Amino acid sequence: MKENIIPHNYQISKKDRQNNNKHNSFLIWFTGLSGSGKSTIANVVEQQLYKLGIKTYTLDGDNIRKGINKDLTFDPEDRTENIRRIAEISNLIVDSGLVVLAAFVSPYKKDRENIKNIVKDVNFVEVYVNTSVEECERRDVKGLYKKARAGEIKNMTGISAPYEAPENPEIEIKTEEKTVEEAVHDIMNYIKPKLKLEQ
Ligand code: ADX
Repeated sequence: MKENIIPHNYQISKKDRQNNNKHNSFLIWFTGLSGSGKSTIANVVEQQLYKLGIKTYTLDGDNIRKGINKDLTFDPEDRTENIRRIAEISNLIVDSGLVVLAAFVSPYKKDRENIKNIVKDVNFVEVYVNTSVEECERRDVKGLYKKARAGEIKNMTGISAPYEAPENPEIEIKTEEKTVEEAVHDIMNYIKPKLKLEQ
């Protein structure tokens, strides 16, 4: 089947769309435990980008796991498929000229490596939102850790399923040592040069 799929040659390129938007497009990927603060930080980064006139879109569990990925569980194979589909979607949105912010637990190193293969290294900024499981459990914003301890949720990342921390993330945010504002400041400093179009 694959050999019969011949791409059409469109006249408007990714570069054209980026030029029109006056900024580069790439993917900012937030990884960390449930309740670590990924979405909170991504949300404030998106607001700052918006103020600068940058075109963005945010992907997270709410718009992905309730829609296109609602057929997937939290088993390792399904998490792999979850991340693969999100990476492919991100790739399309990056191609459309937007900065994508994606906030997913993404606990497996090999799955995060695969995102790089899909969107390409240069388009990928990995942000490790490093919050200890003790702190996530203390916050327990969604009450999931309590349920996991009670055995009502299996495969809970950090409790009964692994989280493989990134070794060389572009940015690491230790949320127990930093405010949200400080975290956003660090991320903005890193991405501002990347937004600039090559002349
Ligand atoms: S991932 O592991 O496949 O990347 P994803 O980020 O899409 O996970 O979804 C994680 C969110 O689903 C968590 O923030 C939490 O609200 C919820 N959730 C429900 N069950 C689990 C579980 N077993 N492990 C982790 N998160 C879970």
